[in-house]
Amino acid sequence: MNFDHYTGRVNQHLSQYLSNQGSLTEVMRYSVLSGGKRFRPILTYAVAHTFGTDMNTVDASACAVELIHAYSLIHDDLPAMDNDDIRHNQPACHKQFGEAQAILAGDGLQALAFEVLATDEHLSAKVRIALLQALTHAAFDMAEGQSIDLSVVSKSVDISILKNMHKKKTGSLLSCAVKLGALISECNSEDQQILENFSQDIGLAYQIQDDVLDVLTPEDVLGKKQNSDAEKDKPTYPALLGLEASKIEYKSLYISAMNGLDLLSVDATHLKKLTLQLQDRAF
Ligand code: IPE
Ligand code: IPE
Ligand code: MG
Ligand code: MG
Ligand code: MG
Repeated sequence: MNFDHYTGRVNQHLSQYLSNQGSLTEVMRYSVLSGGKRFRPILTYAVAHTFGTDMNTVDASACAVELIHAYSLIHDDLPAMDNDDIRHNQPACHKQFGEAQAILAGDGLQALAFEVLATDEHLSAKVRIALLQALTHAAFDMAEGQSIDLSVVSKSVDISILKNMHKKKTGSLLSCAVKLGALISECNSEDQQILENFSQDIGLAYQIQDDVLDVLTPEDVLGKKQNSDAEKDKPTYPALLGLEASKIEYKSLYISAMNGLDLLSVDATHLKKLTLQLQDRAF
């Protein structure tokens, strides 16, 4: 099973939302529509699909979570943060448009994410507020995680600090993607808790894997600079535990995530296949 139809769907809606952002249109489109695996929206669609939810009710959430992610990547690449020049195999936003426009495009994308959710007419006001609360919470945790990330550069930290940082900077938004799908589907509290546990596992796994891919994957495949973390003396899982132990760690988190899905009240095959695709990603 592949998930390309979700990618096509979210891309089409993102392009529509980004068609009229005034003088920020070009810079926002440049960063959002240039690439990206779209795993966060795919997760939202896949969770909703698992509960038989109408896909038309999911588009706004899928876009909103990707818009926050896209903003986080633009800011992440800035000289004040990771100072990376390549993203999605093209010059990073600030290299193409300058730092000021890149910062403002990120700000605009964050605002647009909340607007998209707040104004979606497919959903009841009650569900919309729950979605907005979840996304607000995750966007804050992501920013806090990024703050921790930058405060520990060149410092020796223990694994619990690294784990907390990874859960916040990356896990929060992946968890949110799952939660949005669960909230739209109005699934019962047991299923919500099972999905919460699932999302915590994949959220942490995803960033450990990102750290591993940073070491192992050439730039043309990665679409961003290889060995960026080591060059900046960032504490990462491979730096702390070594490559092999890091691989074992993220793989065991994906396995734990999949095992937990067996407890769902509905068939979890779709979500398990997606988890395998996350685990086997090449970049
Ligand atoms: C990269 O995320 C940054 C992290 C939070 C790990 P992705 O690897 O999901 O980025 P794209 O959108 O697919 O490029
Ligand atoms: C980024 O982590 C996390 C974000 C919230 C954007 P990284 O700094 O490792 O992401 P990449 O490797 O630049 O994509
Ligand atoms: Mg970073
Ligand atoms: Mg980075
Ligand atoms: Mg990285």
